[in-house]
Order: sequence, then structure tokens, then C-alpha cells
Amino acid sequence: MHPADGDPAKKLPRSALMHAAAGEVLPGGTSRSVHQGQPHPIYAASGRGCVVTDVDGNRYVDFYNNATSLIHGHAHPPTVSAITVQARRGTAFALPVESQIALARLLRDRIGGVDQVRFVNSGSEAVLLALQVARAVTGRPAIAKFEGLYHGSAEAAEVSLDPDPDAWGSPSAPASVAYTRGTPAGLLENVVVLPFNDIEATEAGLRANAGRLAAVLLDVMPMRLGFIAADRDWVAAVRRLTRELGILLVADEVVTFRLEAGGGQAVHGYSADLTILGKIIGGGLPVGAVAGPRDIMHAFDDSGGRALVPNAGTFNANPLTMAAGLAAMRAYGPAEISRINQLGGTLRARLDAGLAELHAAAHVTGAGSLFGIHMTDRRYRDYRSYWRAHVADGDARRRQRMLHDDLRQRGFLLTTAGVGALSTAMSEGEVDAFVAAVMETVQRMGGMGSPAAHGSAPGTSAV
Ligand SMILES: Cc1ncc(COP(=O)(O)O)c(C=O)c1O
Repeated sequence: MHPADGDPAKKLPRSALMHAAAGEVLPGGTSRSVHQGQPHPIYAASGRGCVVTDVDGNRYVDFYNNATSLIHGHAHPPTVSAITVQARRGTAFALPVESQIALARLLRDRIGGVDQVRFVNSGSEAVLLALQVARAVTGRPAIAKFEGLYHGSAEAAEVSLDPDPDAWGSPSAPASVAYTRGTPAGLLENVVVLPFNDIEATEAGLRANAGRLAAVLLDVMPMRLGFIAADRDWVAAVRRLTRELGILLVADEVVTFRLEAGGGQAVHGYSADLTILGKIIGGGLPVGAVAGPRDIMHAFDDSGGRALVPNAGTFNANPLTMAAGLAAMRAYGPAEISRINQLGGTLRARLDAGLAELHAAAHVTGAGSLFGIHMTDRRYRDYRSYWRAHVADGDARRRQRMLHDDLRQRGFLLTTAGVGALSTAMSEGEVDAFVAAVMETVQRMGGMGSPAAHGSAPGTSAV
């Protein structure tokens, strides 16, 4: 029998038991709002390199990489030994440790315009702090973000993360839509939402709110929009306008830092006022960081008295994270970056060619070591066109879900939205096997090139 045939639950009896037990003590049976596919999440037992083994003994090639955060895959030997050495010396002190200096230096040397770094424990926390710093430095209350982009769980950053057409307002001046019920009106008033990749509307929104905007949050390859690319001209316009209007440009490089030694800023040739880091810089342990020039990072400096933004964090610059991050980042230099970027290029090109050969209603996005497979041939360039292509189209939604579940059955992990990331533990063999599995999956789905793929969900005509 083919691995993708049969009842998936039969392969996962122990995971099923654990999921049932988890439901008793964890809301929804999980500690994390990440869709894990049907019929329930699989429980990991171990990981090595690019392979994860679940508690039922099934093996998967991991293109999920903990939401792009594992640049070297699992149990990367130099990172494991750095963690082990540090764990024997102690895991947390109220005293600083030297490795934070080395990791901060490494990051400073890679990112243009960065003099200093503040380490925290998650990307969400780093976003929260960067916005606080921007407000403190400029004395302005509001921030701007682009519609549909994810920047972690800070309340302001979640505004208009997934608005529906009945709430999202005008395309050129989107409404600020609460992500969770009970979000204070005052918070919404202080978040200006702008359309991604739209120079004219971005300029109008920034100019109209210039006097009250402290910061603009930018991500040049948003995972929530399936790794579509920001237009170069639009990024340049955002940089030019924020500089002209005295608004701090905050680059969220939590995911894009893997794209080049200097992250998405190096790809687009610009320099932000503040850079937010996370994921890969922690070598697989929880991490976040705010980085920037001395005159802005000064906001954290309490050496001469109370800082503008005091920030005590029990686990900031945790010794284990610093050791792991340093080992992982030292092993991710220009040669490795270039190797996995090329491998990512190969993967996208082979997927493109294979899907074209099958006349599949599907397309591929991404850059460097990031990719997205979209079970629709509607191209998109912002949140609303993404929504029309994916959310409003019931057939595309169903096929997207099938892609994920079928690939999991065949032994490949990626997100339910079809996005994934390579790790340095991969080579052409994994790429070949993955592309072959995607093609078999797409063939099994049938309906390739079918106009049905463009059928609309109720209500789409109003969009
Ligand atoms: C672009 C971006 N910013 C911020 C975050 C939040 O990071 P964390 O999950 O470490 O809080 C994420 C997480 O996926 C992200 O993708």
C-alpha cells in the first residue's frame, strides 16, 4: 500500500493517546496556536539533522523546522556540545555571561547600521520592546503595520492580522481590526494599518498620520502571506518616507534574517532604524533580540540612571541560548547561506517545472531557503489578494489542506499553509524526494488545471 493511502490515524496511535490526554490539561490539547493537520498533532520523540521521529516511530523529513527557526535542523552537533558545556556550568544566573558579548558582536558585524543588541526570549517580546523604544524615542503614540502580517503576539502587532471583508475597510486605507475580542479602542486608534506592496496608499497613510507615528513595522517576506516578496520599489519608498517623516523603520527579521548574512535588509539594500531578530539566532532555544544604532539603543541604557525603556527579563541573554545561538550562527556563514539558498532555488525551480508539467492550478513562492506551495493559480501581492486566493476559495482551501496532510503521510513536514524552510542538514536528496512527493500528491488530488479551482466561496463577489 502506498504510504499516503489508508487511515492516517492508524499510523499514530501513541500520538492520538497523547493528544487525548493533553486535551484534559492544555486548552485545545496544545500550548501553541499552530494548526498541526489532521486528525490531530503528531508528538515528536526525537530529531536528528533533517529527520524527525514521532512517538509511533514514523520518520519525517522536516521542512517545518520549528517555523523556520532551526537553521541546522535538529541536534546540530556543534550546537548540542555548546549547550552541554554550558549546562554543566549552570543554566541561568542573575549575572551576565561572556557569550552574550560574542553573539551581539557577530550580529552587529552582519547587520548594517547595528551597533548594539538587546537579547530577550521571543520574537514577540522583541517586537513589543522595539515598539516601546520607538514610542519613547519619538514621543509619539502610534505605530503602523501592514495588513495581514504576523509579528508575534504583542497586541498592537496583532491588529488586522486576519480581518474579514466585512470589517477590513477601504483598500487604500484599511481599518484597524482587533484580533481578539476586548482589544481596547485606544489601542486600535494607535495602530495605523497600511496595504502591503502599495506605494501610493502607503505614502498617503504615512503622510496623513506622520505627526503621531513612532514606528512602521516591516517584513519583506511575510510567512503569513505565504512568503510572497515585497517589491523593491515599495521597500525603498517605505525607507525614504519614514526617514523624511521622522518615523522609525522597524525591520522584523525574525524569519528573513536567514536569507543573507545581513538579512532582508541586505537583500533589499536598505538599513532599518531598529531590527528585530529571533528564531535562528537562538540555535533552537527560545530567543528574541532588538538591534540598532547606539543613539536609539540608548533607550535601554540604565548605566546612568533610569533608562527610557527599562527592561528586566529573568531569562534575557540566557547562557544556554547565547551558547547555542553563537554555535549555530558561527556555523551559518556566507558559504552555508549561499549553499542552502541555492538548494532553495533548486527546490522552487523543480516544483515550478513539475507543477507546470502537470498543468496544476498551483504556484510556488519564496526566496533563498524559504518556499511556499499554493494550491491555486491566482497570484497575489498583498493580504486581500491572498485572502481571495486562499481563504475565499473553498476548493483551493481543501486542496491546500490535502497537500499538507498527504505530504505528512508521505513523511514530509511543512505548515498547513504550505510554507516551509530548508536547513543546512539538507541536500539534493531531500529536495528530490520532496519534489517527487509533492508531484504525486498533486496528481492524486486530481482536478489539475480545473476551473473548479477558481470557484468562489459564498460572499466572495462582495470582496
Ligand atoms: C515575522 C515574525 N515576527 C515575529 C514572530 C514572533 O516570534 P516568536 O514566535 O518567537 O514570539 C514570528 C513568529 O513566527 C514571525 O514569523
